Amino acid sequence: MYLGLDLGTSGVKALLIDAGQTVIGSGHGSLDVSRPHPGWSEQNPEHWIRACEDAIAELKSSHPDELAAVKGIGLSGQMHGATLLDAADKVLRPCILWNDTRSHAEAAVLDADPRFRALTGNIVFPGFTAPKLAWVKNNEPALFAKVAKVLLPKDFLRLWLSGEHISEMSDSAGTSWLDVGNRRWSTDLLAATSLDEEQMPSLVEGTHKAGALRSELASKWGVQAGIPIAGGAGDNAASACGMGTVGAGHAFVSLGTSGVLFAANASYLPNPASAVHTFCHALPNTWHQMGVILSATDSLNWLSEITGKSAGELTAELGDTLEAPSGVSFLPYLSGERTPYNDAAIRGAFAGLAHESSRAVLTQAVLEGVAFAFRDSLDALAKAGTSLTRVTAIGGGSRSRYWLKAIATALQLPVDIPADGDFGAAFGAARLGLIAATGADPLEVCTAPRTDATIEPDAALGGVYADAYQRYRELYPAIRAVTA
Ligand code: XUL
Repeated sequence: MYLGLDLGTSGVKALLIDAGQTVIGSGHGSLDVSRPHPGWSEQNPEHWIRACEDAIAELKSSHPDELAAVKGIGLSGQMHGATLLDAADKVLRPCILWNDTRSHAEAAVLDADPRFRALTGNIVFPGFTAPKLAWVKNNEPALFAKVAKVLLPKDFLRLWLSGEHISEMSDSAGTSWLDVGNRRWSTDLLAATSLDEEQMPSLVEGTHKAGALRSELASKWGVQAGIPIAGGAGDNAASACGMGTVGAGHAFVSLGTSGVLFAANASYLPNPASAVHTFCHALPNTWHQMGVILSATDSLNWLSEITGKSAGELTAELGDTLEAPSGVSFLPYLSGERTPYNDAAIRGAFAGLAHESSRAVLTQAVLEGVAFAFRDSLDALAKAGTSLTRVTAIGGGSRSRYWLKAIATALQLPVDIPADGDFGAAFGAARLGLIAATGADPLEVCTAPRTDATIEPDAALGGVYADAYQRYRELYPAIRAVTA
C-alpha cells in the first residue's frame, strides 16, 4: 500500500493505493482560508496538521489493515505559501498563501531585477514566495529577523511527519529563488531578498526519498516506523503525475479553486513575457509550463455564497445543453489575475446586466468567463512555444458537463474526460510514494487513465463564442482603466 497526502487550500486528502495502483480508500480533513484584509489570504499551519490527522483518522477507521500495510508516502500541496519558522521550528506567523496579493509592490521590485526572470524563467508574481518574504521584511522586520527556515506548505507537513527540512524541485520552482533550468537554489536570488541557502530546505527530485515517518506518528497510525516519504510535488505537478501528464504533448485543464492549463515539456522552455509559468516537473530532467487563473471554481463558489445556492444547484439550473452566450460577460478576477496579465489589483466584473438577467444567466456568464480565462492561457502557452491539440479535464469543476462544453468551445479543442476514478494530486502523490519506496521507473508508473468520453467544441456555437470572447478581451482594459 502507498499513501498520498495532498494539502489543498480547502482541505487535506489522504488517499491509499495498492501496489497495482488501485485506489483503496480516502480520508478528508477540512481547512478554511482567513482573509483579514482585502487581497490577503492566510492559513494557520497548525490547522494543516489537524486536517491531516483528521484525514488519516478517517482512513484508519475505514481501512485499518490497508493503512497498516503502507510502505511509502508521497506529498502534494498548494504551492507558493510562505511558512516561516524560527530556529526551534516554531511557526512565526500565519502562512501567506498562493492567492494572497499583498506583496504586489515587492513583486514588481524583484521582477524589475533582470536576474529573477533570467534564472527562474518566470515573472515574479505577487503570489510567489520571494515577494512575500520581501513584504514581511518591509512590514514585520522583527519577525523577519527571526526567520530560520522558509518552507512551502507540504514541506511543513513533511517536517511534522519526518522531522526534516526537505523540499523538491516542482514546488521550489514556484518560490522565485530556484534556478529552474539547473534545478538548484540561487544564492544570488536568495540574497536579493536578504536570505541565504541555510534558510532553505535541502532539495531532492520529487521521485526520490525525502525523509522517513517518525516512530511516534507511525505507532499512532498503526504503520511501520521509518517508511520513506517521497519528495512529492506541488499540487499541479502532482496532478500531472496522477494523470500521466509527464511527456511532451500531454496537457490537462484543472478546474480547482484556481484554474490551470498544464503542459508537460521534455526541456526547459521559459517565456516569462507571456505570463506562463515554467516550472520543474516532479520527474527528474522534466519541466512543465502552465497558465494559471486565480479564481476558477472559486468564482462559482463566490456566486454560490451570494445566491445561497450550492455550486451544484447553480450548474444544474443550466442543464447539459450549451447555450449561446447571453450578452452578460463575467471577468473572474476576484483576487487579481496571473496569466496573461500579472495584475494583482484588477478585480472581477459583470457587464451587460439587464432586467431579464436571471440567476441562471449569471451562472452561465461565470462558467463562460472562466472558460475564456483558460482561452487566454491557451494563447499564452502558444506564445511560449507549446501548441495543444487536446486537453484532459480534472478537478471538482469538471463534474459540470456544461462547463466542459463551454471550455471545449472556448478553446476550440476536444476535452477528454478520464474514466471514473481519482486521478488528482493525492493520487499523483501516492504514485510518487510508490516510486520512492520501490525504485520503479517513473514513466511506467505515471501512465494516463483511460478516456471515458470526449467533449468536442460545439460547432454551431463556435462563432458566437468567438464574439463573446472578443467582448471578454475588451472588458479587461476597460475595467483596468477604472481600477485603482
Ligand atoms: C499555481 C498556484 C495554484 C496553487 C493551488 O501556481 O498558485 O495552482 O498551487 O493550490
